[in-house]
Amino acid sequence: MNNPIYPVIWQDDRVILIDQTLLPENYTVVPISGAKEMAVAIKTMIVRGAPAIGVAAAYGMYLGAREITTSDREQFLKELETIATMLRQTRPTAVNLFWAISRMLDTAQNTPGSVAEIRDTLLITAQAIQADDLKTCQLIGDHGLAALPMKPEKLNILTHCNAGALATAGYGTALGVVRSAWTAGRLARVYADETRPRLQGAKLTTWECVQEGIPVTLITDNMAAHCMQRGMIDAVVVGADRIAANGDAANKIGTYSVALVAKAHNVPFFVAAPLSTVDFAIATGAEIPIEERDPQEVSQVGSTVICPSGVEFYNPAFDVTPAALITAIVTEYGAVTPQELKELEGKGK
Ligand code: MRU
Repeated sequence: MNNPIYPVIWQDDRVILIDQTLLPENYTVVPISGAKEMAVAIKTMIVRGAPAIGVAAAYGMYLGAREITTSDREQFLKELETIATMLRQTRPTAVNLFWAISRMLDTAQNTPGSVAEIRDTLLITAQAIQADDLKTCQLIGDHGLAALPMKPEKLNILTHCNAGALATAGYGTALGVVRSAWTAGRLARVYADETRPRLQGAKLTTWECVQEGIPVTLITDNMAAHCMQRGMIDAVVVGADRIAANGDAANKIGTYSVALVAKAHNVPFFVAAPLSTVDFAIATGAEIPIEERDPQEVSQVGSTVICPSGVEFYNPAFDVTPAALITAIVTEYGAVTPQELKELEGKGK
């Protein structure tokens, strides 16, 4: 295996992020020393992918705590709440963002002692969130491998967007399953949807696979049905940004169409995500807030404008795959059907 990929690193008293907007052409890292900078990095997708956003936001909370000058505990907690609000406003769909911020706020409130003691505990908590996510993804990889079809021996797996090391603390969720399958000798090839408009599949998933020598074929999003019709795909594995209590799963725009096509061709469709991506507070996917992004992502490919002026745009960044189309949801606790998901509520708390 090549060097592991860590999109968020705590080093020399600051956070180092891999700039995911520049891959694969340039591997550049960005130092982040303040909460506001972190909010901008999340919003502009320098760091992206639900669990990675959670890890980044947790460090953002610590960086913010460091910027608060008061030594009065109540005032400190009040100002920390303002930082939380700023970080929450970056991206609405990935629940891991809100989960990580809440965990940091709970830690601050429940840590007795001085402001300095709270700050120290916040750093330890951000580091723990990061370390836990790495272990969680490895478990998801192993459980996902066990849930994959037994035949053929070497599988062709299609994935959408990037749910890899870059989207997590390292290893990945959907790509974690792929990594585990590769290590176990059960992977023939990954088919990566390019994932318009931001091209995370083309730019990031293929980059990760190339780093590790995992065989990968890039297809445009409109080729998935054709590939399944030809029997080229044995399983689909995707990540998620938020999963409702009934198993409906929000993931990158285009995931829903892949799920429909998989159902039509009897190809098993797996959603791989940590339990922190499940939002038990909402009953169905209809309640999941869907981020809408800049129309330029649709009107342009790179810097090239692809349509006449006067056209209107719609740019939802995520869609919701109904539970009925999902074969299994793979978390760190194993693979369950969407109907069984409720049984995991409260685990890990
Ligand atoms: O807009 P992005 O790139 O943050 O969207 C990422 C995805 O949709 C991923 O599939 C999801 O966050 C899971 S990442 C393990």
